[in-house]
Amino acid sequence: MTNRDSILTALRTSDGWLTGESLATQLGISRMAVSKQVATLNEMGYRIESAHRKGYRFHAAPDLLLPEEIRFQLQTKHFGQQGIHYFRQLPSTNTTAKEAALSGCPEGTLFIAEHQTDGRGRRGRAWLSDASHGLCFTMLLRPGFSPRSLTLLPLLAAVAVSEAIEETAGIRAEVKWPNDLLIGEKKICGILTEAGFDLDSIDYAVLGIGLNINTPADAIPPELREQATSLAAEAGAPLDRRALARTIIESFERRYVQACTEGFEPVLEAWRARSCTLGRTVTVRQEAGALEGHAESITPEGALVLRLPDGTRKTVVSGDLIQSFR
Ligand code: BTN
Repeated sequence: MTNRDSILTALRTSDGWLTGESLATQLGISRMAVSKQVATLNEMGYRIESAHRKGYRFHAAPDLLLPEEIRFQLQTKHFGQQGIHYFRQLPSTNTTAKEAALSGCPEGTLFIAEHQTDGRGRRGRAWLSDASHGLCFTMLLRPGFSPRSLTLLPLLAAVAVSEAIEETAGIRAEVKWPNDLLIGEKKICGILTEAGFDLDSIDYAVLGIGLNINTPADAIPPELREQATSLAAEAGAPLDRRALARTIIESFERRYVQACTEGFEPVLEAWRARSCTLGRTVTVRQEAGALEGHAESITPEGALVLRLPDGTRKTVVSGDLIQSFR
């Protein structure tokens, strides 16, 4: 925690005024240093009132995914505690995270952007983000497990995001194989995992999450309205992006630690319980062509098992999935 974090926490958890002197004593810094930090916070978009003899009083935090907002009451051991890189705008948090991974950045580092100018989706597609309305961030991982388990990471992340949405907003978002989240039949979240290898082990994995949070229903581009939605459009009211981001990070860390210690079966069990894919007729589009079948189960590696119209079974490890909801 930085001095700025400590000042902010003291002010926002206090009932009223706090003198500069009490803050300075609490932190072991000068009153001048406190006053400078408060000025910086106000420049960042916080509203902190100061008055002669009374000191400082907290009014409001900006609706920005600032590191100070993410760290505030964040209940994690590693994720978000190792460094948070925040950008008002950048091409892609996954690209920046990959560069940082190659320069030795540790596991648990987060890369958060209010807006991406070149957001990337799966299979070379673009990911459009709505500036300061959604959540675009990437977590840097250095998993000790085998590269064969990498396909399970996006499933784990999808479960964690779904759990966090339910906890924060009371909305049930279902997981669609391999790594989308839907509300009803519409997408609200996409996940992009990329990795680098060191001989036959994983050097790093970057896990990027794009979540539509506060985009108003009528601001969703008309050509996407049939396929995409936002949490605010579903809930009928805006949500606190910062609280949701914190809950996602906490939920991810819990599931990740669980997978690293107990294996992936508990995650797969949670994935099955939240799945909108299993039990439905689906078409998987792959480079080699399309495959239609009944989505029967997922394997311990996260591949999808289809029962084909001729009764045979086929396991698919990747592809784009179109599913019927009837
Ligand atoms: C998909 O649905 O195809 C995956 C979308 C992933 C988007 C996120 S936003 C944060 C991170 N940075 C990117 O460029 N992409 C991922």
